[in-house]
Amino acid sequence: MNKITVEAAQPYDVLIGDGLLEQCGRLIRQACSAARKVLIVSDTNVAPLYMDTVKSSLEGEGFIVSEYIFPAGEEEKNISSVAGMWSEMAREGFTRTDIVAALGGGVTGDMGGFAAATFLRGIRVVQISTSLLSMVDASVGGKTGIDLPQGKNLVGAFCQPALVIEDTGCLRSLSTEHFTEGMAEVIKYAFIMDGTLFRILSSRAESGSAGSLQTDAEALTDIVCRCVRDKAMIIAQDEHDNGIRQILNYGHTIGHVIERDSNYSLSHGVCVAKGMGIIIRACRRSGSLESKSADMMTELIRAYNLPTEDKITPEQAAEGARNDKKKRGDTISVILVNKIGSAEICRMSTEELLEFLKT
Ligand SMILES: NC(=O)c1ccc[n+]([C@@H]2O[C@H](COP(=O)([O-])OP(=O)(O)OC[C@H]3O[C@@H](n4cnc5c(N)ncnc54)[C@H](O)[C@@H]3O)[C@@H](O)[C@H]2O)c1
Ligand SMILES: [Zn+2]
Repeated sequence: MNKITVEAAQPYDVLIGDGLLEQCGRLIRQACSAARKVLIVSDTNVAPLYMDTVKSSLEGEGFIVSEYIFPAGEEEKNISSVAGMWSEMAREGFTRTDIVAALGGGVTGDMGGFAAATFLRGIRVVQISTSLLSMVDASVGGKTGIDLPQGKNLVGAFCQPALVIEDTGCLRSLSTEHFTEGMAEVIKYAFIMDGTLFRILSSRAESGSAGSLQTDAEALTDIVCRCVRDKAMIIAQDEHDNGIRQILNYGHTIGHVIERDSNYSLSHGVCVAKGMGIIIRACRRSGSLESKSADMMTELIRAYNLPTEDKITPEQAAEGARNDKKKRGDTISVILVNKIGSAEICRMSTEELLEFLKT
């Protein structure tokens, strides 16, 4: 088992390894010694696979367990699902020391975290992440929330978990499509801050084994650990997203516009990959990123079966970015990678972003 401590204001551990679900009762008992009741929140895809294991492990440690299962999918990341969780906890007589365990991907983690952040003005959450995207990104860092009809993640709260459990064995049941989506975030870390990860992913691609990563347990665990360490390092410096944490938005400013314009029919990971591809080309054209590096980056995204292009025009991208919630004042933070393994935050007006994308 690998343990990475996130040095947030209230530090917590991320535990990574194969077979951790069976031990989750004991692990949660260690992290949340005062808790008596646990609400396990999960979706209709994940619950049939893993609920029984998690529930019996928790009950074995003497926890009183209840469940809230919602239909899988981003459309369910809304206030009525969260209200269902609140009601369940109220019915079960939860107190401030009881906890939510979010068992699933990023949708489950975001909602379970938000329900915990708001119930009784805040109880603890344990993230038990089962998707690649959630393991490398969503479950670490304490951002929780729900979508509104007007946009994604518009309502939420910071709520650092008490513990994060990442059983890499769960990745075996993830569809290839969802695994690939998670790889977009993995590749993002390689570009923005982790040159070693870039070399690991590139050499796999060159040897023709990019496609077998999902079934290569050892390599996969290593990669998940690297990404969690990277994210933990950022969170330790900027828990509330006022500075360096923004580099995690690489590819996201335009990716989010593409995602919204597709009416969410395109997945987040696919849109981030497209967004990265667009920024790579703009940096190359502006002369700040060497052609060779730009080619290597684009090839890496493609090697892991993700797209690098989209039909969005520079005008649509700049206009869409203007409405992004991450906007501060009149300028947009655009994250640039001009050297593989390091990122910079560049503040641009909408007009400057348009010029940059058109160059
Ligand atoms: N809080 C954050 O910092 C943060 C960061 C990135 C993304 N997010 C959010 O995360 C969400 C995307 O995460 P996601 O891709 O995990 O979405 P998701 O939770 O919908 O999971 C994707 C799909 O995989 C299924 N699934 C998950 N684990 C599985 C497993 N082990 N076996 C079989 N099926 C499994 C789910 O049921 C779902 O159908 C978005 O809502 C996004 O906004 C949050
Ligand atoms: Zn993302």
